[in-house]
Amino acid sequence: MDQIDQLDELLTCRLDFKRKKVEPCSIVIFGASGDLTARKLIPALYHLFAEKQLPNPARIVGFARREKSHEAWRAELKAGVESFSRTKRVDGEVWNAFAANLFYCQGEFSDSTAYEKLGEQLAGFGNEALKSNLVFYLSTSPSQFAEVAEHLSKARLLRRDERGPGWQRVVVEKPFGHDLASAQQLNADLTRFAHEKQIYRIDHYLGKETVQNILMFRFSNAIFEQLWTRQSVDHVQITVSEKIGVGSRGGYYEEAGALRDMVQNHLLQVMALIAMEPPVSLEAESIRDEKVKLLKSIRLLHPSQVSGNVVRGQYTDGDVGGQARVAYRQETKVKPGSNVETYVAAKFFVDNWRWSGVPFYLRTGKNLALSASEVRVQFRPTPNVLFAAQCGTKLDANAITLRLQPNEGITLRFNGKIPGTSLQIRPVRMHFSYDAEFGAYTPEAYERLLLEALEGDATLFIRRDEVETAWSIVDPIREAWGNQSLTDHEFYTAGTWGPVAAEELLSAKGHTWRNPQPVT
Ligand code: BG6
Repeated sequence: MDQIDQLDELLTCRLDFKRKKVEPCSIVIFGASGDLTARKLIPALYHLFAEKQLPNPARIVGFARREKSHEAWRAELKAGVESFSRTKRVDGEVWNAFAANLFYCQGEFSDSTAYEKLGEQLAGFGNEALKSNLVFYLSTSPSQFAEVAEHLSKARLLRRDERGPGWQRVVVEKPFGHDLASAQQLNADLTRFAHEKQIYRIDHYLGKETVQNILMFRFSNAIFEQLWTRQSVDHVQITVSEKIGVGSRGGYYEEAGALRDMVQNHLLQVMALIAMEPPVSLEAESIRDEKVKLLKSIRLLHPSQVSGNVVRGQYTDGDVGGQARVAYRQETKVKPGSNVETYVAAKFFVDNWRWSGVPFYLRTGKNLALSASEVRVQFRPTPNVLFAAQCGTKLDANAITLRLQPNEGITLRFNGKIPGTSLQIRPVRMHFSYDAEFGAYTPEAYERLLLEALEGDATLFIRRDEVETAWSIVDPIREAWGNQSLTDHEFYTAGTWGPVAAEELLSAKGHTWRNPQPVT
């Protein structure tokens, strides 16, 4: 280790010494035959087990409709870990030790006897903690959340009172409702059987390292936080672009669209972290209070204002990275005349002291030119004298880009003199790369989230008022689109950066989208 490394090591501040110990518990996954279980949940639990982060003992029970033996379920899951986990490799010995904790429980969500059977299975684990410290992971359709919770409650497996024995938590996947009214209804239904403190609403973006780093970047670095105001920031661009189309998820997507699938949750969450005020402490409630405050200060659009502030788009056939893509309307389970958006670009304003007048541009889409998520904070230009007076729009304003994925990192752009006898100026970059600094270890979002749920730390989960506020922001947009047909202006060719209308959204204010760059 050289001197600098040693110093950095000495300056590493460990914040997780207060982390709660994970107690032995059982995790019951409802919807255990689904994609999420095989692709995300079990690979994440397997890695946690391999790294000795799962409590010991722990049991994982899969609850689903299909008849299946424990052995058959384990074999299916092993194949899943081999194809989808971040390492793809399964260590035979570790897998066998892990698989010994996996059990299957066949049952219909609506059948109360199935929950009795589940109760017996849990009791059969023979350890008080495994039978009463319970995490119920609802990887089901939201319309089944309340039904499952009610049955669990009736079977005395889920207890809303906090008198024990043990503790129970309910983890729910998105989509959490499809509008404000349905989210409120879901919340009302769920909180009949579980206290809000027991409910962990997942937004997997919050489990990403780089998204967690937003708070550290902002609140542990004086130099940047000073600039994080309307006095210095011209506008902010948040891009979550994907090269994939809707693939086999046409049925789901027809109901969701990009607004519900991405903006209501992931993009607004990132925006909340980028723009929120400093919390009074690092406690879950302090952080969540500030996020809610920020979401509440986003100016709501009246449906009549939507067309000037939000653009939707839908992909037509094209080519993404050399691969032919069919139009959205030709995808499986999509209506041939569908007007569902596969792209959204929105301009939001935050009506608070810090951000008044600063546009926040959010965009996301499928079948775009590149898969990348980033936040670009674009600073104000210099006064129109000296270099600015001579270069005009050619003099680029400074920007900080937080690249959330892939090639995670942070880049500062500023201007520099091109060496030589002539006087020329151009933007240059200072770049921090996670990989170069820390190596390639990036645990999957679900590993972190599952661990936090087992620990009982709700910081990275969405609170009731948060989810409802986010719906109140997107609902008027949905309402404005209603059943209106898409216009030519709103279609975009697969493999491009979206519809022309999205360019116009920014050019109205003299801004342009700065597209994420591939890293070579
Ligand atoms: C999911 C959406 O929540 O997030 C998908 O339902 C989307 O449509 C995915 O592809 C993107 O997540 P990530 O982690 O790949 O950026």
